[in-house]
Amino acid sequence: RLGKLELHWELDSTSSEIQRRAADLPDLTLILAETQSAGRGRRGRSWLSPPGLNIYLSCLKRFDGGFATLSGLSLAVGVIVMRALASLGLHGAGLKWPNDVLSGQGKLAGILVELAGEYQGPCAAIIGVGINVRLTASLHEQAGQPIHDLASLAGGVAPDRNRVAAALISALVEGLEQFEREGFTPFAEEYAQYDLLRGKPLRLQGALGEVDGVGAGVDARGALLLQTREGLRAVDSADVTVRRA
Ligand code: BTN
Repeated sequence: RLGKLELHWELDSTSSEIQRRAADLPDLTLILAETQSAGRGRRGRSWLSPPGLNIYLSCLKRFDGGFATLSGLSLAVGVIVMRALASLGLHGAGLKWPNDVLSGQGKLAGILVELAGEYQGPCAAIIGVGINVRLTASLHEQAGQPIHDLASLAGGVAPDRNRVAAALISALVEGLEQFEREGFTPFAEEYAQYDLLRGKPLRLQGALGEVDGVGAGVDARGALLLQTREGLRAVDSADVTVRRA
């Protein structure tokens, strides 16, 4: 069950706050901030976090079995965010591997999963989620990529932020406990339902350079499956873009 819930007006980053205090926080601590002065995105990017519009939340979840048991966690969190949106009656979004929440018009939510601890043994995941509830013209301008918000998804009326936060919190608590018990398996089918890359021509940019292929779903560990001319490949980490067919 929920360990602790903290609401702050401003933090540098809700994930950094948990990182600094992890040793003293109970399992399933959730920290929200109205605004972040140094919000962090994946791959060293920053996450714009002005007050009054969106949701910035991080969650501490401990696991006994070490990193070895956490494959698929970051995809499972994508599914958890989709569950929260569905519980609010918000449909029309999907997942771009590993866990970007997108609509046809841009990114709706970002997820940053950071791990601390041991490969086999006690460890912790710090899971950061940013949800665009209502965007302004200046945010669209600053974003550097197409972004979209729940207000547009809901037909122009922004859903109440407290309700969105509450839905996200209960989906996280329930979903992370489910992941702890059962791993990625129960999430895989739901992931497939939301997978925006399946059947799409993709270009992957990773440690091994560029690879082109067609999205073929994800495997039981959450790796992206890519049908290439040389056969099916499973990719653990890469930047993915959809090629124009
Ligand atoms: C991404 O690049 O898509 C991930 C963005 C994650 C943003 C959230 S907002 C709450 C938490 N605190 C941060 O500094 N980042 C995450």
